[in-house]
Amino acid sequence: MKKIQAIRGMNDILPEGSPTWQFLESRFSAVVKRFGYREIRFPILEQTQLFKRSIGEVTDIVEKEMYSFDDRNGDNLSLRPEGTAGCVRAADQHGLLYHQQQRLWYQGPMFRHERPQRGRYRQFHQFGVEAFGMSGPDIDAELIQISATVWQELGLLEFVKLELNNIGSAHDRCAYGRALTAFLEAHESELDADARRRMHSNPMRVLDSKSAAVQSVLADAPALSDFVSQDSCDRFEVLEQILQSVGINYVIKPNLVRGLDYYNNCVFEWTTEQLGAQSAVCGGGRYDGLAEQLGGRPTAAAGFAMGVERLVLMLETLERVPESYRRPVDAYVLTNGEGLFSLALRLAEEIRALCPGRGIVTHCGGGKYNSQIKRAFSAGARFAVVLETAGEDSPVSAKIRNLAGAGETSSAELSTIPAEVARLLEA
Ligand code: HAM
Repeated sequence: MKKIQAIRGMNDILPEGSPTWQFLESRFSAVVKRFGYREIRFPILEQTQLFKRSIGEVTDIVEKEMYSFDDRNGDNLSLRPEGTAGCVRAADQHGLLYHQQQRLWYQGPMFRHERPQRGRYRQFHQFGVEAFGMSGPDIDAELIQISATVWQELGLLEFVKLELNNIGSAHDRCAYGRALTAFLEAHESELDADARRRMHSNPMRVLDSKSAAVQSVLADAPALSDFVSQDSCDRFEVLEQILQSVGINYVIKPNLVRGLDYYNNCVFEWTTEQLGAQSAVCGGGRYDGLAEQLGGRPTAAAGFAMGVERLVLMLETLERVPESYRRPVDAYVLTNGEGLFSLALRLAEEIRALCPGRGIVTHCGGGKYNSQIKRAFSAGARFAVVLETAGEDSPVSAKIRNLAGAGETSSAELSTIPAEVARLLEA
């Protein structure tokens, strides 16, 4: 019978790979906790309408990439392609946004039907942060500082670059959209079908076009920066001053518009040269209009999300995961002789009590001493604890064999073994 394989672009994370994920998860959650952010969890499935209304009907994500289907009740649902929409929906539904400030974070799988390649998958994971109820550039700076701290904690700061842009208020963008449509109409014959369709429904999305011909037309298009209001420029300048004063380097990227429609004012991306084409490891910005657009009250909002798989690739290439995350087994307790298994179980338990956080395995499955020792080696254990007896009525003795070093063996009183193993593991 033909074996069933995983869906293309959806990865299994095997035991060898999971330490990198655990390292990332623990560093990310520790950083956001230090900044006073609280975790929120919301469903992977939402009404399709939620994503259409937030990300925008005329975007690549909504037009081409969502996993949408009718459920048994005939409701049209979608697997979430990102976290911001669900986070705003959940926070508003539960009254977290009304006259309050919120600092929230989340993590989990997202789904986009993109063409899979290195760093781009159909099920991928994000760490996200969303801040509500703060309208000034101070919170934008805090968000950027959080992301910079995450890079620092992961040992990646020197491999990423911060790109910033000011895309203006919703009002500024409307005026720009009209000017862009007029320009595109004048060049209609040079555009492809996608650009022609989008130039009326969502002209700014034409800027994302992958067609070289369309991009060459766009070279002479009106610039968004000419439509950004003084007010928006002033707040962006404050953000720049804060970033400079806290020593965060950045470059201004005038063509950074982001692929989702909900943004306004400051947007940013962190990119790397380590990953080839999929260079964005984090993206975010302000989205002050979104809560209202979803039927809630006007709510100041800003956030970002990091792509976990891309960070995993970087950490693995650069070998940044500490050894302690890679070692699931520290000591392996085995027996040389009959009838010693219960004693081995008890001994292992005593070692665990003295060595919290360490992996202590008791050999199961029987076998001769040599085959048990082989298992201890292949489990990656640093020490083997061997219980042995010369015969049924003989006393039980114990020794500790160093599997990582030159293989030296020390004997000890059975009762002192747990403390001795603890001492060796700490050394
Ligand atoms: P985004 O730029 O679409 O923004 O995604 C954020 C990050 O997710 C990207 O920088 C990238 O690292 C990762 N990513 C996106 N698509 C894929 C994929 N197919 N495979 C692997 N990684 C991917 C958002 O999703 C916004 N919700 C971010 C945000 C939060 N803005 C405000 N708050």
